[in-house]
Amino acid sequence: MSDYFPPEAYGELSDGIRKVLFSADEIQARVRELGQEIARDYDGRLPLLVGVLKGVFPFMADLARMITIPVEVDFMSIASYTEATREQGLVRIEKDLGEPINGRHVLFIEDVIDTGLTLNYLLRNLRARQPASLEVCALFDKGRRRLIDIPIKYKGFDLPDRFVVGYGLDCREKYRNLPFVGLLKPEVFQPAR
Ligand code: IMP
Ligand code: MG
Repeated sequence: MSDYFPPEAYGELSDGIRKVLFSADEIQARVRELGQEIARDYDGRLPLLVGVLKGVFPFMADLARMITIPVEVDFMSIASYTEATREQGLVRIEKDLGEPINGRHVLFIEDVIDTGLTLNYLLRNLRARQPASLEVCALFDKGRRRLIDIPIKYKGFDLPDRFVVGYGLDCREKYRNLPFVGLLKPEVFQPAR
């Protein structure tokens, strides 16, 4: 797999990385394990994978292909209001799901769970639509920053309390297309707008 993703091919993007925390190979191997576990658990139930854009796109694409049973996929996108409202867990749904989910087995897919505030809001919103089941799959978990306890049924990796980029995660919209995840050099790190 690494032959497809040589870090040095990413020029300027790679140059901004101070340290690779998870290589493309490590990520792919873990995503495969998660996919196998999900396929086993949901066999016979046609799960609906629901992802939150934009950060989830590489994980969702890889995970869905590692799940060897039929699945459906859908996406939502959200806009946080301001830092203050975000802290209260208020988010605005910018793009909602395409179909009703009542009676469906919904597997909510996240790139990273940080404070858990966004996820908590979205789970409450989805639960009100009466799915048959609702579970969470997150590639990365910054457990130490969690403000709200949320059970994560499928978890890829624990992350330290550091800002990381790559594999969907951005810094001002850049670095999402890196196939690995790493820490930025201080000179290229810019706080969120
Ligand atoms: P929270 O769990 O409500 O605090 O928000 C999680 C969201 O914050 C994720 O979906 C990401 O968009 C963003 N986020 C959290 N940590 C990082 C990071 O290390 N790099 C890039 N985005 C992050
Ligand atoms: Mg996000």
